Amino acid sequence: MYPKITSLFLFFFISFSYAVHSQNQNRNNTVPDARIQKKVDSLLKLMTLEEKVGQMNQYNGFYDVTGPSPKEGNSKVKYDQLSNGMVGSMLTVRGVKEVRAVQKIVVEESRLGIPLIIGFDVIHGYKTISPIPLAEAASWDLDAIKKSAGVAAMEAAAAGINWTFAPMVDISRDARWGRVMEGAGEDPFLASKIATARVTGFQGEDLSSVQTIAACAKHFAAYGFSESGKEYNTVDIGTSTLYNMVLPPFKAAADAGVKTFMNGFNELNGIPVTGNQFLQRDILKKRWKFEGFVVSDWASIAEMTSWGYAKNLKAAAKNAVVAGSDMDMESKAYIDHLPQLVKDNEVDESLLDDAVRRILRVKFELGLFDDPYKYCDEERELATIGNAQNNEAVLDMAKKSIVLLKNDNQILPLKKSGQKIALIGALASDKNSPLGSWRTAADDNSAISVLEGMQKYSGNTLSYQKGADVVTGETAFIHELNINSNDKSGFKDAIDLAKQSDIVVMVLGEHGFQSGEGRSRTNLDLPGVQQDLLEEVFKVNENIVLVLNNGRPLSITWADEHIPAIVEAWHLGTQTGNAVAQVLYGDYNPSGKLPVSFPRNIGQVPIYYNYKSTGRPLAYEDKKMVFWSHYSDVENTPLYPFGHGLSYTSFKYNWLDLDKNVYEVNEKINISITVKNTGEVVGKEVVQLYIQDLFASITRPVKELKAFKMIELKPGESKKVNFTLDKNSLGFYNNEGEYIVEPGKFKIFAGGSSYTSLETEFELN
Ligand code: NOJ
Repeated sequence: MYPKITSLFLFFFISFSYAVHSQNQNRNNTVPDARIQKKVDSLLKLMTLEEKVGQMNQYNGFYDVTGPSPKEGNSKVKYDQLSNGMVGSMLTVRGVKEVRAVQKIVVEESRLGIPLIIGFDVIHGYKTISPIPLAEAASWDLDAIKKSAGVAAMEAAAAGINWTFAPMVDISRDARWGRVMEGAGEDPFLASKIATARVTGFQGEDLSSVQTIAACAKHFAAYGFSESGKEYNTVDIGTSTLYNMVLPPFKAAADAGVKTFMNGFNELNGIPVTGNQFLQRDILKKRWKFEGFVVSDWASIAEMTSWGYAKNLKAAAKNAVVAGSDMDMESKAYIDHLPQLVKDNEVDESLLDDAVRRILRVKFELGLFDDPYKYCDEERELATIGNAQNNEAVLDMAKKSIVLLKNDNQILPLKKSGQKIALIGALASDKNSPLGSWRTAADDNSAISVLEGMQKYSGNTLSYQKGADVVTGETAFIHELNINSNDKSGFKDAIDLAKQSDIVVMVLGEHGFQSGEGRSRTNLDLPGVQQDLLEEVFKVNENIVLVLNNGRPLSITWADEHIPAIVEAWHLGTQTGNAVAQVLYGDYNPSGKLPVSFPRNIGQVPIYYNYKSTGRPLAYEDKKMVFWSHYSDVENTPLYPFGHGLSYTSFKYNWLDLDKNVYEVNEKINISITVKNTGEVVGKEVVQLYIQDLFASITRPVKELKAFKMIELKPGESKKVNFTLDKNSLGFYNNEGEYIVEPGKFKIFAGGSSYTSLETEFELN
């Protein structure tokens, strides 16, 4: 029997920890604070084996404040475990009232009163929803992305949450995979910068502030390379891809001081990542010196039995803990089996000590020992969630996320008067779909629709017809296979309206629930009958502006060939309609750039700009030979390349210059590029810099993004943009995971997309 620790003891314990905390807030978030470490160690000494396992156990929420008491029915087990200190964290508990209720059980009833860390999927906003992460990535605006994460953190923290399961930093090249929407696209450099922005946005300068929450880099690792884009599938990739493509954004998150990592549902080269010691111990904890903790994905410990890797839940618990998974999300593997595994000497208790230290440390850093209810302030909750500033911030982010893919004859921007506009498409009036598939705490139908946004500009001259639904039936949680609507009964009204209008704006694409977890697709065309609708309308009025809603690249080759203007508007969140309208009417000049390549058709997938040359590259094309690396029915190039995005003005890249032609390995390479605004209006441009290492001991991509800068230019204005590269940009990881820089020739490219317009060379000694 262990004595219950009295509240007097806890008072001294907590007071002391408060003093420690306030004086020693760890500013750079990476090296653990020595005094916190001391407190963690002394707390650990008080803990029984079962209590240690309790800290490693995470449960889904159950506290239904308006329903039956959790002391009854199915919830009783969880209740008892909370009050016995057998639970270290809960997820999907939200709202001050609910969080306070579960925290109270633990703090007041358990022997040691160790507060819970409360996790939630705050992926792109809490209640005020920002654009889906892929859309935000299209802004290439790191400050805006950081700010957006900060707003999400502030709202979530006001609702009692202190840990988000974001950012997802998985690179993906496969648009079939539904979770492309949740990442930052296909490029490890851009994704690493965005990982840093998101982590620092969520965690802020001071993790103990009531406006910041702990972040979680997920899913470690390679989930985005699921074979054939099918969810939860096998991942079989080589070491070069792992080190050079998959791991860099995770490393960036770790370097930025992310407090937690999540493993995943996939296996990697035969070993489920949840039981993968190489990833979690060797790379993450040893090589990268990560001091935070690793949470499993939902039941991913148990799923190792379905993979055929662990013969039962007990074996899975052993695999996972040995591999370095510190917290068990909902498998009940640790709570049911770890104590016995330790008693039977099958698992060394020091592994548990290490895991618990990591978990406690984060709780200390959050300040939960100072005040377990610090995130539970009803007034703050009321004042913060959904307030005007937050809406302003997500509107700003939404405008920056829009990408102008095409604008022939300057059909955009629309005129604010004197133009009869037909607005067509079910998504145009949809107030739910724009919230995307991770709408966390948002109320259904709470987004401003495109119709509402446009009505503010063109009330009298705007008419609307939906033409066709995108999906059938109840869209609240789409999971059936055949959800696309085939009903064409609305076509006639839409076509009639288009005939009588000067210009037609068609909002087409995927419903917000058609991308995201569990939403892999084998077809990247416009779902349902939307393509037919587009073609029918085009027959009567060719002045079409196509506004796309989607969570992944779509293959819109016909539209690209026929439709004069195409605007990529993703799923932009709460302020969708206002953002789209401001861009369509020219009050905001778009500056977004694609963070993913758009394929011409699904057969090109996986498609990405940083491919390898092959032994028979594009050069053969001119010779009209058969035996070179290509398809015989479609070009090799994507429909829209990575980095592509237009503006209402135009830019010319005039000049690319280096300060030298030959550099020593430790020298800095100074690069300048001159860009001119050759159009009529002020515009922003993301100037992109790529390199190619021409010969290396491991084949290198034909292009690699290494730097970018956003500039603003007035009409006629020219600017010189300077970049400095050094050896940290010129090397790569060999198959042992060592970063190496090899001498030789390099090319440098600059331009407004990965189809760069300027190029030069240098030699590295
Ligand atoms: C499963 C998802 O893969 C993960 O990303 C998420 O954080 C957890 N569920 C918790 O909801």
